[in-house]
Amino acid sequence: MASTSFEPGALAPSGMIPLSVPLLSGNEWKYLKECLDSGWVSSAGPFVDRFERMVADYAGTQHGVAIVNGTAALHTALLIAGVEPDDEVLVSTLTFIAPVNTIRYAGAWPVLIDAEPAHWQMDPQRVADFLDNECRWQNHELRNKANGRRVKAIMPVHILGHPCDMDPILAAARKYDLIVIEDATESLGAEYKGRKVGHLGDIGCFSFNGNKIITTGGGGMIVTDDANWTAKAKYLSTQAKDDPIEYVHNEIGFNYRLTNIQAALGCAQMEQMDETLSKKRAIAGRYGSALGDVPGVSLMREASWASSNFWMYTVLIDGKIYGENSRALMRRLAREDIQSRPLWQPMHQSPACQDFQVRGGEVADLLHRDALTLPCSAGLPLDDQDRVIDAIQAGVR
Ligand SMILES: Cc1ncc(COP(=O)(O)O)c(C=O)c1O
Repeated sequence: MASTSFEPGALAPSGMIPLSVPLLSGNEWKYLKECLDSGWVSSAGPFVDRFERMVADYAGTQHGVAIVNGTAALHTALLIAGVEPDDEVLVSTLTFIAPVNTIRYAGAWPVLIDAEPAHWQMDPQRVADFLDNECRWQNHELRNKANGRRVKAIMPVHILGHPCDMDPILAAARKYDLIVIEDATESLGAEYKGRKVGHLGDIGCFSFNGNKIITTGGGGMIVTDDANWTAKAKYLSTQAKDDPIEYVHNEIGFNYRLTNIQAALGCAQMEQMDETLSKKRAIAGRYGSALGDVPGVSLMREASWASSNFWMYTVLIDGKIYGENSRALMRRLAREDIQSRPLWQPMHQSPACQDFQVRGGEVADLLHRDALTLPCSAGLPLDDQDRVIDAIQAGVR
């Protein structure tokens, strides 16, 4: 029987259609060779600077700081934003767990916010309700009425390549002087009202993990317009080194810098970004037109105000209408050598997150029950796309 146990982003067994594998078809070898030939292999070097510039320019921000992975980028972002132990940070409940973990790394507490049903992103209404009704403004700070904790930041997670509805989230944040850290790890290239994600809030974070829209093997980046935060992110991510000769450190820092080798891959990947994005959007368009009429299958929707990078193409399966539920379909696809995957267990259901507050959660629960992500590597051949489409249509023949 076919297995779905290999990691997304890893090489798939022959004949298997994997969920997502990287597209490495540009200057990757050439740039890696330059690193090896020059000896610049570690956490400084020309590719690091170039990659930071490329990603910042692409997102439209003044600055970029390359970081060892997206999780470390989020952690560093929280620290430079001034999030302190016992603060609260609002974050999406329907997400991969990394952003929630980072809030705890900073010693702060997540307040989990449900998704909205149309585009599955952080529900801005629930954000406003929590801030307006459950918090009080006191001595120039916002405090949770129930526990007295300071509310310091909002971390909207742009899941699956689609942006959150940011205007109301930003309005709520501005009203109460909260910092907005975008978890844009899945959504490089996505746009909200014509502006790139990562440059919508105060700080944006990207991931270049193997399954992301571009990859450096593992990697991340902080983008922002703020020069002080940029300097602080570089400082904290290089062990907070105040005197590099005498090894003086005034703070506890981290070894969070990206290597030149990883950045070399990143530069080659960024050169292909436009092409990768159009391939991802073409796959989404093809799936959308082929599966839109299948009874019991609902498509991932792109808002009129958004441009998605369609990082992970996901459908909802109504088991009663379709004839099998999302998990049964996943198992059938696996038997046909097609890898698919449900969405993450919502954070409020996660055993690791039972101490955290949640607002809503029902929408995320339904999405978790019904969602199935389909193979959508940027380089997925048309024949393989057809195999996926046929297998899903076959369920109702
Ligand atoms: C929403 C989200 N946030 C953060 C991360 C963490 O990124 P990384 O794997 O680069 O640490 C990921 C993915 O891995 C993610 O999907």
